[in-house]
Amino acid sequence: MSHVTDSLVLPTTPDTVLPLVLEVMARTPDPRLRELLCSLSTHMHQFVIENQVNEKEFERAVKFLVGIGQETGETKNEVILAFDLFGVSTLVAMLNNPPGKEDESSKAGLLGPFWRANAPVCQPGDNIVRSDTPGITMEVRGVVYDAQGKPVPNAKVDVWQASPVGLYENQDPNQADMNLRGLFTTDAQGAYFLRTVCPSGYPVPTDGPCGELLDAQLRHPNRPAHLHFMISSPGHKVLITQVFADDDVNLASDPVFGVTAPLVGHFEKHTVNGQTVAQLTQDFHLVPGEMVFPHPPIP
Ligand code: BEZ
Ligand code: FE
Repeated sequence: MSHVTDSLVLPTTPDTVLPLVLEVMARTPDPRLRELLCSLSTHMHQFVIENQVNEKEFERAVKFLVGIGQETGETKNEVILAFDLFGVSTLVAMLNNPPGKEDESSKAGLLGPFWRANAPVCQPGDNIVRSDTPGITMEVRGVVYDAQGKPVPNAKVDVWQASPVGLYENQDPNQADMNLRGLFTTDAQGAYFLRTVCPSGYPVPTDGPCGELLDAQLRHPNRPAHLHFMISSPGHKVLITQVFADDDVNLASDPVFGVTAPLVGHFEKHTVNGQTVAQLTQDFHLVPGEMVFPHPPIP
């Protein structure tokens, strides 16, 4: 029961705070913002009461949130990373990109904190290796289709990956700017073709609050080897996804819960003139929609 002093309604017990908060939230003019704020308030209050959160724990939570903001900058986005580590980014991707009728799970995936806009424009067959980068050469090809199964010419295929030393170029002064990033265009048959190095698994950044969280949970930070893709074409929803190496030991323990069955690619290895070459054939399927790009997590 709230205590009423004249017209003042003041909370008296833990469970009387939420109704007052909801009354305030309910005055938010924008209907969607109102809905989200009311729901978020309800979940937060329930969480605090259910778990009897104490002052020390509340202080720790505040420190974590302040820390992920302070750690975010030119080279990494620790806020996105925090959502990733709770599986929220994968959840949002799945929820908003449901599988097709004949598919079992979504072919979209999380963006991650390392996409940069304005990757160098590439021609078919170009290699996105831009500075000395160890690793096995890899050829990646495929076709971009629309919802009717027709190839999409002139679709943009934006690709990015970490180097086999486990770092994206923006994290590593030894790599050229935009190393292992490129923007390809599909040909008249909807096909793309690129060259790169075979990706390796790498750890998510562990030098901030997210690393402390992983430590406290005895979770390893290693993502299975993957390539990131962002496929776009006017009149279609932008497809953000990743393709994982099928032989990686961490497929079932990705710290950001990003691996789904259709995103595991077949990384075939061949020997050509005594050299090992990896090959991946990966098609993509677009659905009709607005071509809206995400804000780049890093500049
Ligand atoms: C990535 O794959 O780039 C990534 C995704 C989530 C967290 C950290 C890195
Ligand atoms: Fe990645």
